[in-house]
Amino acid sequence: MRSVSIIGCGLTKFGEHWEMSFRELIAEAGVKAIESANIEGKTIQAIYGGCMASGRLIGQEHIGALIADQFGLNPIPATRVEAACASGGVALRSGILAVLSGAYDIVAVGGVEKMTEVSTEHASFALGGAGDQETELFHGATFPSLYALMARRHMEEFGTTEEQMAACAVKNHKNACNNPNAQFQRAITIEDVMNSGYVASPLKLLDCSPITDGAATLILCETEKAKKLCENPVEIIASTQASDSLALTGRKSLTEMAATKIAAKEAFEKAKLQAKDIDFAEVHDCFTIAEILATEDIGFFKKGEGGKAVEKGKTSLDGEIPINPSGGLKAKGHPVGATGVAQAIETFLQLRGEAEKRQVKDAKIGLTHNVGGSGATAVVHIYKAIGGKR
Ligand code: COA
Repeated sequence: MRSVSIIGCGLTKFGEHWEMSFRELIAEAGVKAIESANIEGKTIQAIYGGCMASGRLIGQEHIGALIADQFGLNPIPATRVEAACASGGVALRSGILAVLSGAYDIVAVGGVEKMTEVSTEHASFALGGAGDQETELFHGATFPSLYALMARRHMEEFGTTEEQMAACAVKNHKNACNNPNAQFQRAITIEDVMNSGYVASPLKLLDCSPITDGAATLILCETEKAKKLCENPVEIIASTQASDSLALTGRKSLTEMAATKIAAKEAFEKAKLQAKDIDFAEVHDCFTIAEILATEDIGFFKKGEGGKAVEKGKTSLDGEIPINPSGGLKAKGHPVGATGVAQAIETFLQLRGEAEKRQVKDAKIGLTHNVGGSGATAVVHIYKAIGGKR
């Protein structure tokens, strides 16, 4: 049975990159990944690149070809993968399946987005395309407002408070202070969040992930080969994906994401593990309420308990299940097509003990969770540290 491991990674700093173009971001992450894997670029046999909205944001399509060209890797096959904010996670899954199928032994998986060249209004419209254009965006429902509906319902059903949601942002900003690639490396307080202006009540400015430029690349390799090439590869022991209705109106419940629940359940079955076996997780916190929903739907906490858990410090770096040690989408930044790959990079670094001041103690098993839209796509991966050549 073939298995797949990560042997190298490259990440640009996340934030506003006025000095760098879309293709320069791709090149920086790609070169860093190839150097980190200590391989020659010509050994890469295929590329899968996540990108959500380059057409609307910078007027560029045909991103697969652009990535291969920019890496200097023509004529290998290069494919763009689009699944809204889960584009990176689904690109990773595509690369994994390509290696598991036996088609390739070494592939590059990337993700990229350049979002800050347009106004917030323009970016909101582009991001809104991840929901249902006819029943949501056309009527003015942008992403903060869709997640605000979920937050209101969670508050109504479980007594979740705005302060508990604020606690997610405070924790993630604190973690990002130790991440040199994060967009916001500054601490904030509950009061800061509570006093930031409403974007879509009950969500305030500091409940939202920002608009971000950035790129991320991973090198995947068949595991037996990876052990020969690398001292400490990280094996991906589960990769699952599920879908749900595009629009919120089609959902059975506004307080859970069925796609996350299904993808997480299948991932635990594949990995023969349970939620309690996970040492830390990078989850999709595009808004603070999204982190609370994710920690419940993955199974770290019972439904309705996620808000209390973050308030009590259970998800802090030294808590019982550290969530988003990188700073998450909230503070590390959310260049939508790159996010799923960047989550895997953080997990790779954590499991190799290379996360420096934000290192989770004794991290051996990690999980990533990447969502597209308001929950219509969910991707879950589970990773394990393994030894290679010594
Ligand atoms: N968190 C923390 N600070 C933020 C921030 C955020 N999410 N967004 C902006 N800021 C800061 C900026 O750094 C800037 O600070 P400065 O004045 O010290 O330089 C200030 O707030 C104003 O920034 P600006 O870019 O003018 O904000 P904006 O009002 O245009 O945009 C949001 C703010 C929240 C509307 C925007 O970030 C947004 O739409 N976020 C959600 C993105 C999204 O939907 N992603 C997909 C999720 S599924």
